[in-house]
Amino acid sequence: MKPAVLHVEDLTIHFGGIHALEAVSFFVKEQQIVGLIGPNGAGKTTVFNLLTGVYQPDRGDIYLENKSLLRKKTYQRCRMGVARTFQNIRLFGDLSAADNIKVAMNDQFRYPLASGIIRGRGYRQGERSAAEHADLLLDMMGLGGNADLMARQLPYGQQRKLEIARALAARPKILLLDEPAAGMNPTETEELKDMIRMIRDQLGISVLLIEHDMNVVMDLCEFIFVLDYGRIIARGTSDKIQNDAKVIEAYLGGELNGDYA
Ligand SMILES: Nc1ncnc2c1ncn2[C@@H]1O[C@H](COP(=O)(O)OP(=O)(O)O)[C@@H](O)[C@H]1O
Ligand SMILES: [Mg+2]
Repeated sequence: MKPAVLHVEDLTIHFGGIHALEAVSFFVKEQQIVGLIGPNGAGKTTVFNLLTGVYQPDRGDIYLENKSLLRKKTYQRCRMGVARTFQNIRLFGDLSAADNIKVAMNDQFRYPLASGIIRGRGYRQGERSAAEHADLLLDMMGLGGNADLMARQLPYGQQRKLEIARALAARPKILLLDEPAAGMNPTETEELKDMIRMIRDQLGISVLLIEHDMNVVMDLCEFIFVLDYGRIIARGTSDKIQNDAKVIEAYLGGELNGDYA
């Protein structure tokens, strides 16, 4: 059995009277793509904010490869291997696509992202410049031709892909994606699915995916956790989740068919 990269135990937080999360436990194993789904306001983004140290939980713990993250600051968690994208794009609009990636690298570009790819391209460990590393990520995310454009000049779908490339610059062990397909057209969404698979298969990175597009979730995710009103109401494979009475009720029927607005 694969070991867990990320393991969350009994995570609980409230904002004033709102119990945003109540006793949430889940795990993501090595090289898994795991879905975190649920209706608006269910608490999905709050999970990411807890994982990245934006909020502190009232109760519970978070383990990355069995090490607790609870007392670590956001930048420390990033160095330890937790990277995220945001529901609303946060790029440096006036920096080029390539520079958006380079600023996220720190000194990490000295180490191989995925030795297989890098050796295949003739790079040796520690010899790549930040620019070369940025190029690798830009190519992977289909942005190779637009490296020198300012982020704000890119079409919306490409900005979302650039955000993912930037998150990968920190060489994470786990990538947290918050609604990456939001606002993408069907072609971009299909490309995104392939890219997320590449991130897992070629870079060996685990992915925790928040996504409303059920086609994306059901196609990609080996395992899915469903949140509703801050609690996990169901867990399992896509087949199991699609037929779970509580999940169908939480979504009032329609959204699980893939046409969530
Ligand atoms: N910083 C905050 N202050 C107050 N309430 C918050 C805060 N962040 C999230 N919430 C509340 O927590 C609940 C879950 O929100 P969120 O995690 O954004 O849901 P989702 O991402 O599933 O749509 C909502 O009721 C939201 O209003
Ligand atoms: Mg959200």
